[in-house]
Amino acid sequence: MSRSSPVPVTLDRGSGVPLARQLAAAVRDHVVAGTLPVGQRLPSTRALAGDLGVSRSVTEQAYDQLTAEGWLESRRGSGTYVAAGAAPLRRHRPSPPRPRRSGLLRLDTGTPWIDPRHRAAWRRAWRDVSVATPPTGYDDPAGLPELRVELAGHLARTRGLTCAPDEILVTTGTIGGLSQVLAALPAGPVAHEDPGYRAAAEAIRAGGREIRDVPAAEPVTDLDGCAAAYVTPAHQHPLGPVMSGADRLSLLAAARRTGCVVIEDDYDSEFRYDVAPVPALAALDRDVVAYLGTTSKTVAPSMRLGWLVPPPRLLDELVAAKQASDLGSPTLPQLVLARLITDGDYDKHVRLVRARHQARRDALLGALTTALPGAQVQGVAAGLHLVVTLPDGVDD
Ligand SMILES: Cc1ncc(COP(=O)(O)O)c(C=O)c1O
Repeated sequence: MSRSSPVPVTLDRGSGVPLARQLAAAVRDHVVAGTLPVGQRLPSTRALAGDLGVSRSVTEQAYDQLTAEGWLESRRGSGTYVAAGAAPLRRHRPSPPRPRRSGLLRLDTGTPWIDPRHRAAWRRAWRDVSVATPPTGYDDPAGLPELRVELAGHLARTRGLTCAPDEILVTTGTIGGLSQVLAALPAGPVAHEDPGYRAAAEAIRAGGREIRDVPAAEPVTDLDGCAAAYVTPAHQHPLGPVMSGADRLSLLAAARRTGCVVIEDDYDSEFRYDVAPVPALAALDRDVVAYLGTTSKTVAPSMRLGWLVPPPRLLDELVAAKQASDLGSPTLPQLVLARLITDGDYDKHVRLVRARHQARRDALLGALTTALPGAQVQGVAAGLHLVVTLPDGVDD
């Protein structure tokens, strides 16, 4: 037997239309629209009258009317149901499931593998957060103070980037942080690597700015007229080289000369397999670099959690803009991330998945050598994707 459900109805006592007629019309609309599907049990006339604060004669009259019209049927000893023949004209359908990709291989870039051993730490962190006192009120729009303390330690330890916790803003990931920074800058185009990260280009355009293409993996020396330059120095996306020391210095010099802000997308620096990762570009010059980090490659893209260390002169404006736009990011995921970092589980997880990603990369390189002799792998041993130049004569 299907469960009865409350019928969403609003009655207007001042309209002059009898309440029973209003109720019948509202239920009829729901049946026609399919929000009350065939076979759905309706509340009893007594229960519905109680819910709506009307006399039982109102609900009885409405049900009698709809039964007479064929929209409802009453089953002896069981209740009133949407009648079998009352097929909706406009069916309320759930959206169709997204097509699943082939189960064999997923070659889309950017989706991290999560070590199953991480699940215990993940559950522990959420459990700890769930038994703590429920959060009240609004938190700091720049981000939860305890998370920012952990992030400051993490950035100093892993990226050579020294900053105070209150110089960090918690973001909804790289793209959210990028949009925040751009909103605080004067008008002007944004230099963007070509080829580069498409989602970043889309965010730049969505903010009403033009893109100025700069060839990827080549020194950027001309930023005249640009408000910002978006770059991926630790592992150029998608080609894969690391920005050299000389190129870093010339980019920073150009930014200083023109007043342009360099936006450093440090999306996958946790995954360097041959040597220790090169320190962040922002570690060389905090004044012109806005640094963006993310949990999208280490925990899961659906966390929508990242961090931004802006040039100090932009800090107050960015915090005020975050407050004005959405009053700050949700607290609970921030608490969980803080807990994962404090307990050492975040670093441990990154170490485990780094080894696994490296093994996967090695397997892919081995398979390429056998299957595609002459294929050229681009870039350094890093990250969760790689670019291959196919040998002449191979149809891509
Ligand atoms: C170059 C680059 N930056 C950033 C990200 C992550 O963006 P977000 O933190 O907004 O998920 C990705 C994910 O694939 C990426 O490829």
